[in-house]
Parts: sequence; C-alpha cells; structure tokens
Amino acid sequence: MKKNYGIWITGASSGIGKAVAIEFTKIGYKVFASSRNSVDLERLNKELPEEQSVEIMPCNVASHSNVDNTFKKIISKSKLGCLINNAGITTFKLSEENSIREIEDIISTNLLGSIYTIKTVLPHFIENGGGTIINVLSVVARQVYTKSSAYSASKAGLLAYSNSLREEVRKHNIRIINILPGATETQMWPKKLREEFSSMMMTAQNVARTIVWAYLNEGNAVVEELVVKPITGDLK
Ligand SMILES: NC(=O)c1ccc[n+]([C@@H]2O[C@H](COP(=O)([O-])OP(=O)(O)OC[C@H]3O[C@@H](n4cnc5c(N)ncnc54)[C@H](OP(=O)(O)O)[C@@H]3O)[C@@H](O)[C@H]2O)c1
Repeated sequence: MKKNYGIWITGASSGIGKAVAIEFTKIGYKVFASSRNSVDLERLNKELPEEQSVEIMPCNVASHSNVDNTFKKIISKSKLGCLINNAGITTFKLSEENSIREIEDIISTNLLGSIYTIKTVLPHFIENGGGTIINVLSVVARQVYTKSSAYSASKAGLLAYSNSLREEVRKHNIRIINILPGATETQMWPKKLREEFSSMMMTAQNVARTIVWAYLNEGNAVVEELVVKPITGDLK
C-alpha cells in the first residue's frame, strides 16, 4: 500500500476509530480524522507525538454536502488510498421505544453516511487505479439481536450494498473489506452495561489492530469479510 496516500477515517474521535487512527499513524500513514466534534479530534492530537499527528477534518457523514466538502479539502492536501467507514451510532432500545427521529439518525449516519463517503471517493479511486474501502460493520449484520433493529438494518444494509459494489469495482483494483466486530468496550455502550460487561468485551485497540492487519495484507488476496469476537464469545 502506498504510504504517501492518505487514510480517511470517519468517527475517529473515540473508540474504534480513534484506535485505528493511532495504529495507522504509528506506522507512518497520513491520517485524515473526521467526526462531528472537532474538540475531541484536537484532544486526539494532544495525545499523539507531533510527528504522529492526524489531519483534523470535522465532518457530519449524515450530510452529503458536508461529506463532499470534506473530501475536497482532503484531496487538496493528499491523494487518498483508503476510506474507513467507522462513524456509527445506536440506541439499545426496543423497536416500539425508538422514535422515528432516532431511527432516521441511525440509518442516516450508519448506512447513508457510509454510502455518501463511498460515492464521494469512488471516482478518485478509479482515477488512481485502485483504493481500499473498509466498513466497520458489526456482528448484528449477520446475527439476530434485540434492541438493535434499526442498527441491525443499517449494518446489514451496508453489508449488502458493499457486497454488490465489490463485484462492480474489482476491475478497478478497489478492495472492499467488511469488518464485523462483536462487543467492544467503547462509549457507544451505555455506562451501566459497559461497567457490567467490560471484562467480556474486546478493547478498541484489539479491533483496530485487526483492521490495520486486513488493510496491510497485500498481494493477490483480499480480506473480504472478517468477524472479530471476544474470546469469551457473545455477551449473554
Ligand atoms: N462498540 C462495539 O461494541 C461495536 C461493535 C461492533 C461494531 N461497532 C461499530 O464500530 C464503529 C465505532 O463505534 P465505537 O464503538 O467506537 O463508538 P464510539 O466510541 O461512540 O465512536 C463513534 C464515533 O463516530 C462518530 N460519529 C457519530 N455520528 C457521526 C456522524 N454523523 N458523522 C461523523 N462522525 C460521527 C463519533 O464522534 P462525534 O459524536 O463527534 O461525531 C465517534 O467518533 C461504529 O460504526 C459501531 O457501529 C461497535
């Protein structure tokens, strides 16, 4: 993979996205880090040695125009070699309790937001003769969980979209990598559940290292889909 090509990570201000950003900067990649809140991104840079700092690119992926403008800013600085669709939200509520607004937010961020970024980078990747798109999905894309209906729909939707897209873009040397993590200790989980189950969750760094490994796996093989779970299995 060309190290002089940048890596754009959405949702890079905390949890898995932040850990992925740190892992890539450690090995010398240029990282463009997005999330809605730029204060948290600035905090990330304060935690990193100066030579490892990320380029802060605030972006709400649920807004197509925001995604488009952010992409223009990124490519004015560097070519892009990889997009990591990691930004994601959920509510942990029963379907009957979820408001329409909450459902719209989940679908707009997790599914439409990722499609917006993919659509935005595709012409650039085609022009460059290749690129990598990594989607941070979830085990919910393949397994049934309650209190996750809109979230599951968003992740399964992106899985289906990406699997179809992959067949269309093989000829352009574009790799589509779907990562399906199980429970990971991040602030996505409500505080109480996080405290109760933290010993049965992966760390964000565990998952990040798997993502970086999948990206760096060069040659004629592509990791198309990867399930990563805690060694203790699913939360019960
Ligand atoms: N934690 C788990 O158990 C688990 C398991 C499987 C998959 N995942 C997936 O992993 C990904 C990362 O989640 P996480 O667990 O690391 O949670 P997290 O710590 O809450 O991180 C979510 C990140 O997404 C950003 N974000 C949310 N809405 C956004 C938007 N509209 N536009 C841009 N950025 C947005 C947040 O920053 P701002 O709020 O500042 O925008 C934050 O940086 C998600 O896609 C999640 O579905 C998590």
